[in-house]
Amino acid sequence: MFEGSEPRSTRPIISHVTALKQHANHGHLILAAQDTKAVGTIAATLLMKLLPQHGDPVVALPTGSTPIDMYKEIALKALELPRDHSHHPARWITFNLDEYDGLQYNDPQSYHAFMQEHFFGPNHTAADRNFFPDPKAPKAYDTLIRSYGGIDVLVAGIGVNESPHIAFQEKGSSFEGRTSLVKLSASTIQANARFFEGRPECVPTHAASMGLRTIQDARNILILASGEHKARSVYEALTLPPSTDRPASCLQGHHSVTWIVCPKIAAYLSAHGVEL
Ligand code: PGA
Repeated sequence: MFEGSEPRSTRPIISHVTALKQHANHGHLILAAQDTKAVGTIAATLLMKLLPQHGDPVVALPTGSTPIDMYKEIALKALELPRDHSHHPARWITFNLDEYDGLQYNDPQSYHAFMQEHFFGPNHTAADRNFFPDPKAPKAYDTLIRSYGGIDVLVAGIGVNESPHIAFQEKGSSFEGRTSLVKLSASTIQANARFFEGRPECVPTHAASMGLRTIQDARNILILASGEHKARSVYEALTLPPSTDRPASCLQGHHSVTWIVCPKIAAYLSAHGVEL
């Protein structure tokens, strides 16, 4: 699955992994991290190993609490690279998975602001290489992604309210959908209210989100999941028949997906017959 990506580091790739086995059903790799921080460390290591050897890497990136440790590790790894190295994050062409509608770029709750704090700022990236879907013109996003040759590595968290989902593509989203403006479900608004001083009325009602087809078109996909509350959703996405009731189950048809999960999720998967 890491075809075309020669190991570049002498650090062992699985140093923080307690278990590793190809998932029997779909060829997915499930990595059980030794703790929640290691979910991020492993994600950063794998992401950088999956980058193409030549040209500017095209990477799709998430927001959320789970990837914060990944961004910290990426910034540390960047310190070891010359700025003109093609794997330096400042050279990446990045496409974020989603952005709220109606928030200014500099609104502290916008995903722009999140990325500024965790990725653009620490790695001193140039704004003309970092893209977000435009809620006013979401369809243009797929065209833009294609113009850069498609996504080499896509990293996503997994949302768990109502259904196992990716970005804002919630229950009922078409597996063939492209980037679009989506209406947030009541439960997502409720879940995200924690970032808006606990006030659901302050959470935007819509967001631009990469579509599930756009996501599946990425050459390699890393899914990060931390926290016992996500265990059942990860299990369902991996093992139940693909269904729009479980948007993340669309990944079962993809040839290169690695799930990086915390010990509690790993324990749940093992207890329910998923071999790790
Ligand atoms: P989280 O978000 O990392 O904050 O749990 C995950 C997601 O909804 O993608």
